[in-house]
Amino acid sequence: MARALRSLLEGEDDWVSAMATTVCELHHAFDWFHWTGFYRVVAPELLAVGPYQGGHGCLRIPFSRGVCGAAARTRQTQRVDDVHARADHIACAATTRSEIVVPVLGRDGRVIAVLDVDSDHPAAFSQVDQDALERLCQELGARFG
Ligand code: SME
Repeated sequence: MARALRSLLEGEDDWVSAMATTVCELHHAFDWFHWTGFYRVVAPELLAVGPYQGGHGCLRIPFSRGVCGAAARTRQTQRVDDVHARADHIACAATTRSEIVVPVLGRDGRVIAVLDVDSDHPAAFSQVDQDALERLCQELGARFG
């Protein structure tokens, strides 16, 4: 997947195009990815939905709320095996059972976005998934942030 994405994004310098291509490829490559999208930092402590695949996602998330807000606030990946056990989880779909949210840091260390993936399966995201998504987000942040 990483090699395919590098090839697709070769020479691309537009952040929106890169996000849209990334979520499209991820969403269609892994059938347990039921919602795959970016939330961008659009103002201090505020995320706004970016390119995504799946049902509608909530449009704005303050850093103080949700699993996405926690990832942006802490600059740490949030891997949630059971969203029902996570008090701050924001449910965009009633079917979501697990979630992973990875921060995207720019070259200066600022959070510029988070990559959010939801699954209808419990504990759908492994450490291997987390490591791969973190590598992907590091590359995107270094290139577009
Ligand atoms: N579950 C996320 C909100 C985004 S929707 O899942 C697309 C959260 O708790 O921040």
